[in-house]
Amino acid sequence: MAPPSDRNGCARRRVLLLPLPYQGHINPMLRLAAALHARGLAVTIVHTETRAPDRRNLPAGYELVVVPDGIPPELAASNDIPSFVFALNRNCEAPFRDILTGRRALREGEEAAGEGEAGRVVACVVADVDWFAPLAAARELGVPALALMTSSAARFRVYLAYPRLCEKGYLPVQESNLDTPVDELPPLLVRDLHVAMDTARHATYADLLDRIVAGVRQSSGLILNTFDAIERADVEHIRRETSTPVFPVGPLHALSPAAAAPVQQSSVLPEDRSCLEWLNTQLPGSVLFVSFGSLVSIDADEFLEVAWGLAGSNRPFLWVVRPRLVRGRDSVELPGELLEETRGRGKIVGWAPQEEVLSHPAVSAFVTHGGWNSTLESMSRGVPMVCKPCGGDQLGTTRYVCDVWKVGIRVEVEDKLTREGIKAAIERLMDSKEGGVIRDRMREMCDVVSKCTTKGGCSDLALQNLVDFINLS
Ligand code: UDX
Repeated sequence: MAPPSDRNGCARRRVLLLPLPYQGHINPMLRLAAALHARGLAVTIVHTETRAPDRRNLPAGYELVVVPDGIPPELAASNDIPSFVFALNRNCEAPFRDILTGRRALREGEEAAGEGEAGRVVACVVADVDWFAPLAAARELGVPALALMTSSAARFRVYLAYPRLCEKGYLPVQESNLDTPVDELPPLLVRDLHVAMDTARHATYADLLDRIVAGVRQSSGLILNTFDAIERADVEHIRRETSTPVFPVGPLHALSPAAAAPVQQSSVLPEDRSCLEWLNTQLPGSVLFVSFGSLVSIDADEFLEVAWGLAGSNRPFLWVVRPRLVRGRDSVELPGELLEETRGRGKIVGWAPQEEVLSHPAVSAFVTHGGWNSTLESMSRGVPMVCKPCGGDQLGTTRYVCDVWKVGIRVEVEDKLTREGIKAAIERLMDSKEGGVIRDRMREMCDVVSKCTTKGGCSDLALQNLVDFINLS
């Protein structure tokens, strides 16, 4: 098959993109693929068997190579992210090398190119920062390799600072230093770093971050799913500290429309679109959208506290209750008393078309775990947030959302999450003067995102720099 060509008949340069197989990582990588494709590059998604998208649903112009990963389903379904990431890197390095050396075909149903051939047609590899082994393999084989950080620039600064934070005694985290400010990373407190408190898990995590950072330092550049208007200082810091080209091209979902990217098709769970019809029946600006992303699990009693908090807010709500949202349970039901209390104003789905929901005029606020994609999606629609972070980067992101950008309210948790805490945060955001200021600021944020991503905006220019960089590599 002849390589795809542009309008002048010139062969398009091909980029191989390697998402980490988690929804929160797949979505931005596929949006990046769409953005690069729209600017004239040919794209091939190299995906693990785990959570591979259905190739029949890919838009025209996309190629997909699925590589064997040898991951046991229990590990893929577990929340042991470091073990999963280490196993993926170990098991997928060889098939990835085979692609780059031409021993494995780049297109379904085609013969492999043959030793040394495929490397010549691949202009560049873009891999999630967690794919440290493929990044190293590409570099060794002489193929330019860029890393994509799907979370914030501030989170990548935590990765960079990690050894120093250990040396200085901030880490491993102890009960006594949770509220200590991290002088190197304002405005974060030690509790926002979210790292394991037990020594063994701390060591594994430190090892993982060490490899990630080493991979990025040796790569040809770092792509960030953020934008200068909110994280300019962090982006500059990363530029200085890594001495590599840095491309802040986010929010990626806003740069390339959903229709152009196979995001829906890559959903790990089937979308329940009936919620859009339900939203059509609700008053403008009335509904709370509640979702804790694709990974987080909460205890059964926390689930009930959230439910009673929503009930107590007296507002309509649309809640994504996906399998295993409640730890260890595939499904969960609300008690009859609560169903009675919220009859007609509560809608629960297993998975929602989140971006469409956030764009719906009936939605007034987003009760969220503060995942980075959810945060960016909320900002680009001007939907103010009620944040209940559960771990990982969500704690740091919540600090920025509530204390720096001031576009959301944190649910206060003393010893444990309570219904009163959920209700109070919703009321503060929706009914108080302070909440009004936050809601206004989020509306302004929506304009900022729009300026950044339209032609000539900072993210649009960063994307063009990235495309030029790939074309010249
Ligand atoms: C996790 C981390 O929380 C996140 O910060 C990190 O960058 C990646 O890993 P996740 O917890 O799934 O991701 O949250 P988030 O980053 O918000 O991503 C969830 C994605 O799933 C979003 O793009 C969201 O639009 C989508 N989603 C979620 C749906 O499409 N439907 C749903 O019902 C819920």
